[in-house]
Amino acid sequence: MTKVRNWQIGRDMEYRFAEAHPDRQLAFVFNTNRCIACQTCTMACKSTWTFSEGQELMWWNNVETKPYGGYPRSWDVRILELLEAANPGGQVWDATARGGPYGVFKGMTVYEAAAAQGKDVAVGYAPTDEEWAAPNVWEDTAAGPPGRPGAYDERGARLPEHAPWFFYLQRVCNHCSYPACLAACPRNAVYKRKEDGIVLIDQARCRGYRKCVEACPYKKPMFRLTTRTSEKCVGCYPRVEGRDALSDGVPMEARCMAGCVGKIRLQGLVKVGADGTWIADRTHPLYFLVHVEKVALPLYPQLGTEPNGYYIPPRWVPRAYLEQMFGPGASDAVDRYRRPSRELLAVLQLFRTTQRMIFRYDIVEGPKVLETTIGGRPWTMYADTVVGFDEKGREAVRLPVVEPFRERPARYLNSI
Ligand code: SF4
Ligand code: SF4
Ligand code: F3S
Repeated sequence: MTKVRNWQIGRDMEYRFAEAHPDRQLAFVFNTNRCIACQTCTMACKSTWTFSEGQELMWWNNVETKPYGGYPRSWDVRILELLEAANPGGQVWDATARGGPYGVFKGMTVYEAAAAQGKDVAVGYAPTDEEWAAPNVWEDTAAGPPGRPGAYDERGARLPEHAPWFFYLQRVCNHCSYPACLAACPRNAVYKRKEDGIVLIDQARCRGYRKCVEACPYKKPMFRLTTRTSEKCVGCYPRVEGRDALSDGVPMEARCMAGCVGKIRLQGLVKVGADGTWIADRTHPLYFLVHVEKVALPLYPQLGTEPNGYYIPPRWVPRAYLEQMFGPGASDAVDRYRRPSRELLAVLQLFRTTQRMIFRYDIVEGPKVLETTIGGRPWTMYADTVVGFDEKGREAVRLPVVEPFRERPARYLNSI
């Protein structure tokens, strides 16, 4: 074990390998507020990568209902329980401490808990076949008081927190900066690419030890019986490399990202410094959302793998739940999302609007169109236009912040 810097938890931590970072990192933001659980992303992935014999129960992309759903079942509760057992009462953040953007995590990561218990590289567990068997048990099952049958129950729709609540959590491999799958493999079959930070399992080296499956706290490597090797999300790397026939030589978003019906997904490549932090890039949409606006947060950053997937938390969910899942920045992130700045409102339009990755955005200012209050505070909306540019600096998309509105002429009212 050696010391590495994990900026998400605001401190150094133990890891199996010395610090080494890619030049660019594949990263993404999911806006949980918009997801309708249509599973188009899930099927886009399945029909591309996991449609073969032995992959039947494999879902590299899945969308689960929180708080009860999970694939594999209860994966998050299981890993949180293991860490709590290793460090009872100690798994806490100090949000006021100086260290990282969300304060400092005072508890143990999966690596530190393993070291404390004299175990292998990372604390983890192997899910049973039954836990893998269904990707969507407890879909749409709410927590909180039951609604009133046959009647509108306003407690389920009142902000800031709904009384009965649930939300959809979209999950793919996070192509972590300190991957547990990579650290745990005795064959060194897992590697992280220097050019884009994508984490892959070398199928020729893999001998099916499944330590990666045990160690990944997000449970994203999956064992395939027909090949007796493990497989995981490959980040649609041919598209990221710009080798897809449609891409015209520039990086494209993965299939799950490009297919998203709810327009909740934005994926890109960010520049990474020698210390692993993102190099400031003020007009890169991902840098803006994660580091400037801080509206998108990592999933369970306390686990310590430094995941490169970020989430805009759902605005109706009890804040304590969101903080254990996304860290202490969750409440502020919800506030900023509910009452977005002029720039944030424009950047939010960019999600899932072009298959080409956006490397820079620009905002063309328009006139004021609305003055109102949100949460008792004044808020103004402008008819701005946001423009996204691809890797070569070419315009990839141009969108108005105000949706065009057209009234159907009376003579067509009854037709389609
Ligand atoms: Fe590895 Fe899991 Fe991180 Fe993916 S999410 S890189 S499988 S540790
Ligand atoms: Fe949600 Fe988009 Fe996937 Fe549909 S395609 S389930 S909206 S993430
Ligand atoms: Fe290594 Fe996982 Fe294969 S531990 S040998 S990559 S099954």
